[in-house]
Amino acid sequence: MTKVIAVVNQKGGVGKTTTCVNLGAALAQKSFKVLLIDLDPMGSLSGWLIDEHTENGTGTGDLLRGTVGFLEAIKRSEDLAIDFIPAGKHLNDITLMENIDPFILGERLGSWIEKYDFVIIDCPPSSNVLIANALMASDSIVIPIQTETLPLKGGIKFLQWLTDFKSEYNANVNILGILPCMFDSRTKLSGQILETMKLSENLGPLVFNTVVRKNIRLAEAPGQHRSIFKAASKSSGANDYTSLAIEVITRSGLQVPEEAVIAPVIEAIETPAVVEDFNHQN
Ligand SMILES: Nc1ncnc2c1ncn2[C@@H]1O[C@H](COP(=O)(O)OP(=O)(O)OP(=O)(O)O)[C@@H](O)[C@H]1O
Ligand SMILES: [Mg+2]
Repeated sequence: MTKVIAVVNQKGGVGKTTTCVNLGAALAQKSFKVLLIDLDPMGSLSGWLIDEHTENGTGTGDLLRGTVGFLEAIKRSEDLAIDFIPAGKHLNDITLMENIDPFILGERLGSWIEKYDFVIIDCPPSSNVLIANALMASDSIVIPIQTETLPLKGGIKFLQWLTDFKSEYNANVNILGILPCMFDSRTKLSGQILETMKLSENLGPLVFNTVVRKNIRLAEAPGQHRSIFKAASKSSGANDYTSLAIEVITRSGLQVPEEAVIAPVIEAIETPAVVEDFNHQN
């Protein structure tokens, strides 16, 4: 059965788009069929996967307005081995329209998504209309939270909003996991925030074992239009998103393909290239 995951947090810049692309690519590497949906009018995920200047601008906005169908909206990234629906030029218009109900995305996707194992929706930081549509179309939520004080507070506020939303709309969506992101092992604060998250009665049981460390390679990959696995396959970023994919597969009740190895989490220190060169020579 298709697993539909909204990657969501109303706090901006916490690693939502980075998680969508690299989690999607990690799952595709394990032979799962993946569809990514860009539901952010800023189009960060789209700009990562395609050169928008050469595009006709069709995307999620048109799908929601009903001016194109599913098959006209999807595109293929051969590099990541995934399908995706870019944001397109008209997604912002939706947020300006009145009386948008939160069920449209789910209706437009319909049974088309059944050919995928995972559908991952990249949500905007604002626009409750679009977030509501993502939540109503999904069965699971991944919440990236940056391991700093204000993002943690923002994450807790978002969880409160989510509880209200679920009861108001009778939404059948559950938290698959909370993902600590941009963890910086050089700062005491990152460690303290991670501990606070894990020890919290409400958050603790939901926090993934995987911690995504700060890694410049993750920040460079969008500019190269590549996933972290193509941009820097030996980086800590590649390691962390592989580890996340394994947890997502397991928490989804699916079988992890045999060759998948559980990657070490934050204890792992990336081997500097010079050390690797030295090891090769000796
Ligand atoms: N683990 C990481 N290490 C280093 N840089 C990162 C990491 N994760 C994300 N970044 C960078 O941080 C910035 C914000 O990340 P990203 O765009 O994924 O967040 P977002 O939550 O989608 O933001 P927005 O709310 O604006 O959509 C980007 O420049 C991204 O490349
Ligand atoms: Mg984003």
